[in-house]
Amino acid sequence: MRKLYVAMVGLPARGKSTLARRIREGLIAEGIKAAIFNNGDRRRALLGTESTNPDFYNPDNKRGREAREMICRRNMDDARDWLGKGGDVAILDATNASRARRALMEATLNDHPLLFVECLNEDPVLLDACIKQKTTLPEYAGYSSEDALASFLKRISYYETIYDPLGKEKFWLSVDAPANRILSERPCEVSPYYPAIREIAVNVWVHSLCLVRHGQTEFNIQGRIGGDPSLTDKGRAQAEALARHMLGRKIGWVFTSTRLRSHQTAAPLLADRPDTTAMALQEFDELWAGDCEGMLYSEIRENMPDVTAGRNADKYGYAYPNGESYAMLRERVQRGLRRALFLAGNSPLLIVGHQAVNRVLITLFLRQREEDVPYIFIPQNQYFQISLTPRRKIFERIPYQE
Ligand code: F6P
Repeated sequence: MRKLYVAMVGLPARGKSTLARRIREGLIAEGIKAAIFNNGDRRRALLGTESTNPDFYNPDNKRGREAREMICRRNMDDARDWLGKGGDVAILDATNASRARRALMEATLNDHPLLFVECLNEDPVLLDACIKQKTTLPEYAGYSSEDALASFLKRISYYETIYDPLGKEKFWLSVDAPANRILSERPCEVSPYYPAIREIAVNVWVHSLCLVRHGQTEFNIQGRIGGDPSLTDKGRAQAEALARHMLGRKIGWVFTSTRLRSHQTAAPLLADRPDTTAMALQEFDELWAGDCEGMLYSEIRENMPDVTAGRNADKYGYAYPNGESYAMLRERVQRGLRRALFLAGNSPLLIVGHQAVNRVLITLFLRQREEDVPYIFIPQNQYFQISLTPRRKIFERIPYQE
């Protein structure tokens, strides 16, 4: 079997390492021996904080340039040795931003084909979150958060000055990472691993997603829709029960909507979890009922019979006056899910959503007829556990409180 080098390409904080890990994991699941050689890890180990200083990345800084090239060469040597000792696919994880760097790699790694995998991410919300996340890494210990941010942004700006898009290289795959979409490619047909890598790049991977609905609110008891109510005592007890149920389970990210009931449900779970990142996404806000926000279902039936009739006739397609339909909700929820999955990468995540939002989220994993979507049962004392990788498909509803 022919061996393959894969070299990641992309500016910092674009999701390269997450994609590199997915490629490694996906290949290993197929019985293919894959390993990652990461320039950043090597740089940190060799040079420590010297290389945190953004000037290290200034293309005019000879010492920085030479140090980075030396690290790249050492990783190439290691990758070649590893393939020589029985490995199948060596993944070189670094920015590999300039054409000159990539030309050097093609010239050096000439014993097996070399495929460049470019990772692009132009979503401003994700970029912002990824950049902030980077500034919390140990590399920036001792920096204030403002200084860390300024330093990392400066580093990115130096990379931007040398970044060349792919074009001259022999084989490449360019991926819109949050969308799991291939933007362009020059297929590496000589490699038997190319189709698998392509497949891994476009498939949505969910290692572990818990989908929870917020706990009970006063509005729920009354049959009132929308608004921003807080949890009842029962709702708080549900939130506590959820936190107890999840004790000892690693959760990398918790996403909420911007609504109080969603935050309050997540709060007990987030207490004592310093390593969990919490983020509110407006995309997970409940179906917007427009003119009917805050009304009782009975008031709508009596005072706005057209709305009730419209929903009865086509609950999925009907939009509240000045509000949304399920069909409209699907678009933004899908955008939110994409963002959440991208940010969480390989770590487990939990989403605290709402009735209609969770109905839509479920159908992004499990195909349902549109007319059935608005009637899916979304209890407040159970959650959905979702796991979707090429080897594992799990979709279960699990009670967390009797
Ligand atoms: O009743 C709670 C709620 O989340 C409302 O805020 C929302 O309008 C409704 O559920 C969505 O469910 P349905 O489409 O069945 O009215």
